[in-house]
Amino acid sequence: MKIGIISDTHDRMEAIKWFVDEFKKQGVKIVLHAGDIISPFAAKPFADFNFTAVFGNNCGEKLFLRDTIEEFGGKIKQGPIELEINGKKFALMHEPYALNPFAKSGLFDYVIYGHTHEVVKRKEGNTMVLNPGEACGYLTGKATALVLDTERGTVLLLQFY
Ligand code: NI
Repeated sequence: MKIGIISDTHDRMEAIKWFVDEFKKQGVKIVLHAGDIISPFAAKPFADFNFTAVFGNNCGEKLFLRDTIEEFGGKIKQGPIELEINGKKFALMHEPYALNPFAKSGLFDYVIYGHTHEVVKRKEGNTMVLNPGEACGYLTGKATALVLDTERGTVLLLQFY
C-alpha cells in the first residue's frame, strides 16, 4: 500500500499539482496531509485520493476548508488524530507538541507531523517518525513530500525543485 504524505502546502498550487501528479504516477491511493493547507481551493487537487488531513496553525477558513474536503469524500480534523490503514497504526499531527510520547509509546507504526518545514525520517524503536517537509518550498527552497510503501517499509522523497 502506497501512501502519499504531504504537509505545509500553503496554497502553492503549482507544487500541489506536481505532487498530486507524482503521487498518481507512484500508484498512491491514500494521501495524508499534516496541515497548513490554508485555502479551501488548495484542497481540491486531492479529490481523487482517499484523503485525510489535520488542520494547521495557519488554516483560517476552517469551516469552508472542511466543507470543501468533505464534499469530495475526504476528512479533516484537529490533530493529533489516530488512524489505521491496512493494519498499520498512524498518528497524524501538525505541530510536534507531543511528538516524543507519540513516537516512544510503541502504539504506532508511523508518527507523522509537519509544521517545522524540515524533512525527517527516523526510527524510534519500531515506530517510524516522518515529516515530509514543506510542499510549498517557501522557507527552505525545497518543495518536498514523501511516498511511504507500507509493505516494504520504504520511504521515497519527492522533490519539486
Ligand atoms: Ni504550521
